Amino acid sequence: MKVDVLLGLQWGDEGKGKVVDVLTPNYDVVARFQGGPNAGHTLEFEGKKYVLRSIPSGIFQDGQVNIIGNGVVLDPILFKEEAVALEKSGVELKKVLKISKKAHLILPTHRLLDAANERQKGKGKIGTTGKGIGPTYTDKVSRNGLRLGDVFHNFDEKYSNAKERHLTILRSMGENPDITELEKAWLDAVNYMKEYDIIDSEYVVNEYLKSGKSVLCEGAQGTLLDVDFGSYPFVTSSNTVCAGACSGLGVAPNRIGEVYGIFKAYCTRVGSGPFPTELFDETGKKIRDIGHEYGAVTGRERRCGWIDLVALKYAIMLNGVTQLIMMKSDVLDSFNEIKVCVSYEIDGEETNRFPFDVDAQSIKPVYKILPGWNCDMTTAKSEADFPVNFVNYIKFLESELETPITIVSVGPDREQTIKRKH
Ligand code: GDP
Ligand code: IMO
Ligand code: MG
Repeated sequence: MKVDVLLGLQWGDEGKGKVVDVLTPNYDVVARFQGGPNAGHTLEFEGKKYVLRSIPSGIFQDGQVNIIGNGVVLDPILFKEEAVALEKSGVELKKVLKISKKAHLILPTHRLLDAANERQKGKGKIGTTGKGIGPTYTDKVSRNGLRLGDVFHNFDEKYSNAKERHLTILRSMGENPDITELEKAWLDAVNYMKEYDIIDSEYVVNEYLKSGKSVLCEGAQGTLLDVDFGSYPFVTSSNTVCAGACSGLGVAPNRIGEVYGIFKAYCTRVGSGPFPTELFDETGKKIRDIGHEYGAVTGRERRCGWIDLVALKYAIMLNGVTQLIMMKSDVLDSFNEIKVCVSYEIDGEETNRFPFDVDAQSIKPVYKILPGWNCDMTTAKSEADFPVNFVNYIKFLESELETPITIVSVGPDREQTIKRKH
């Protein structure tokens, strides 16, 4: 069996959670492979709304196995908070969720280091989610990390060494935090995590594949936040691209099947960093208002702008996207015209490449203007309900991106999802 991967092609928040939930009935297993509680994946069905941070979005369907892979970083406090809330709402989480022994733990001091690093950067700050993501991955790569499997062997000593190392760094940065309360809650949450099925996920996933079970991988963040290929240094600290599914779960590259690339009909970004098609005017505000573009984790205002095909083509190339999924097209229902960035002009030269140093100041987006469809798409049930200008928008994107758009989302609810025929 192959592993299919669903991932974001922009700066995150494309609607991954919603679509993973919709696609889950086609799979036996759903797995997260990178990121951590910096993610906020929203699902809506039967009038209820859920925001998932560390737990995969396949938990609400028919008892599929959900796996948190080795590439993920977990904060026990936030995990417990999320898990307990889900259990309260009736999800039998301990029956369906398995967690890799090799997933790294976010310590209370990682969060403090994240905040201290940001303070030190001052105006050049990344605008992180403040969840300790960067410091945790830094410890992983510098071989100082703590993994979930460590909680069963000599944990007190390992934890205490890591904490002391962090406190020394914090003191050298002029910080002198009291972590007594936070530490208590954290250690309590570590104990709670022991109640879960903590596994050698690379073996388990490959055994599932061997026995004919299908796996869907759920990306977090988006390609333009990838630590190698995103708008560095304004990125997250993991590989959000498709290759991250291989290293974050232990599946071989030749196991990858379909790659679903998900994007908004426009574009958003939260936090600092370049965004060439960003709108600072009323149009940007209108997109934010209609699209409710506020962060699912931090509540921060998301910056809004037009769709950027230069960046999308780059993301499609890096991920080997086989199918595109277009989200939130309903947000553009009341626009008379819609702009699509087809290339960049940099120093008077037109280019189709996402540059090494993405400097929004020196990039002038070249736009093609398409007529809006000016009608309510939120009740559309099938492609037959699509107005002609909307069909033209889809066709234009498909021909530019050379990839079929197989799913169109016209609202936040599970039901507001239209599969297209090809
Ligand atoms: P994720 O991080 O990629 O899972 O996306 P988020 O959940 O952070 O952000 C997507 C937001 O858009 C959520 O509030 C969703 O409920 C909402 N959403 C998803 N699809 C649609 C859609 O097609 N139309 C509208 N209007 N909202 C959507
Ligand atoms: P989902 O999975 C949008 C952004 C932060 C910041 C940068 C680094 O919901 O799409 P970090 O805390 O990871 O060190 O922050 O990355 N960021 C996201 N933006 N959606 C996300 O996740 C994000 N996760 C991180 O705003 O700019
Ligand atoms: Mg999100």
